[in-house]
Amino acid sequence: MLSGKPTILVTGGAGYIGSHTVLALKQAGYKVIILDNLVYGHRDLVEKVLQVELIVGDTSDRPLLDRLFKTHDIAAVMHFSAYAYVGESVTDPAKYYRNNVLGTLTLLEAMLTASVNKFVFSSTCATYGVPEFVPIPETHPQNPINPYGATKLMVERILTDFDEAYGLKSVRFRYFNAAGANPDGLLGEDHNPETHLIPLVLMTALGKRESISIFGTDYPTPDGTCIRDYIHVNDLADAHILGLEYLLKSGDSEVFNLGNGSGFSVREVIAAAEAVTGASIKVEERDRRPGDPPILIGTSEQARTILGWQPQYPSIKDIVAHAWQWHQQRHK
Ligand SMILES: NC(=O)c1ccc[n+]([C@@H]2O[C@H](COP(=O)([O-])OP(=O)(O)OC[C@H]3O[C@@H](n4cnc5c(N)ncnc54)[C@H](O)[C@@H]3O)[C@@H](O)[C@H]2O)c1
Repeated sequence: MLSGKPTILVTGGAGYIGSHTVLALKQAGYKVIILDNLVYGHRDLVEKVLQVELIVGDTSDRPLLDRLFKTHDIAAVMHFSAYAYVGESVTDPAKYYRNNVLGTLTLLEAMLTASVNKFVFSSTCATYGVPEFVPIPETHPQNPINPYGATKLMVERILTDFDEAYGLKSVRFRYFNAAGANPDGLLGEDHNPETHLIPLVLMTALGKRESISIFGTDYPTPDGTCIRDYIHVNDLADAHILGLEYLLKSGDSEVFNLGNGSGFSVREVIAAAEAVTGASIKVEERDRRPGDPPILIGTSEQARTILGWQPQYPSIKDIVAHAWQWHQQRHK
């Protein structure tokens, strides 16, 4: 019975990955409450597309969290909210430690007080740092090379300790590069500022940007450009439902990479975008950026084996085509 499913609190549900997951939760029959401070989230998408309760507030607001947990019967929390600009985390680390670590700690403490002990966390492949080998399994050493990755690793450590001490069960998902959009074109990636390759390439195809920069063309890869693992946002959303259900069925704390398993180079992404849009995309070749490893690809065997997860959209063409549908209607 769909109506019997519990209520899930989704922090950052008005953002990119959170909004797609809220839609998937709704479609799976869950009741959803979003907590988002709307610093980067989109109220219009929540109101028009998701149509779930939106509480505008911050994860560091303990009185608000206590009220929220008292007035709603919450079975689990999915925690997407964080700041995620790697460059900004280097120039303003305090902002990142405060929001990503302290904000999460406040949320976890409020959960403990309310006896809510299931937590799905958005971690990142940035916790691995420069890979010692690829593809990267979950057991690869974690040595983040920027404050953003460090904040996510700190939360992972907190989660390990909170399980040990308080029995708080968590699923930690280490995403590779989230990309694409819901195939119906109603939700998609809308970051401002935007730093991710696929939306930047598509903005160039739309004429909103002059050109796309390729940082480094002399990497030891087949076409000389960096290779990354792009994972469709709907496949991420599906994994979250499976991770949640794993915890609801009393699963133990676990960590999962979420990636496509096969990488695509910057030039391959641009070629896919030209094929999908029919536009000729102007490219500027620039020097390598410090800290950019040549290849970042993850193994997601653990999610397939334990959760039964199977990505539906592994092709870069589908990922770009869905993103293109979204960008065309968002920038009409
Ligand atoms: N996009 C990716 O490729 C990627 C890769 C790895 C990990 N992640 C992680 O996934 C999560 C979601 O990423 P996204 O791309 O959807 O980001 P996003 O910026 O689109 O969404 C984050 C949302 O959280 C909200 N938020 C931020 N701080 C908050 C706070 N203190 N209280 C309440 N709301 C707050 C923002 O307003 C925004 O709506 C983040 O934790 C990010 O670090 C993303």
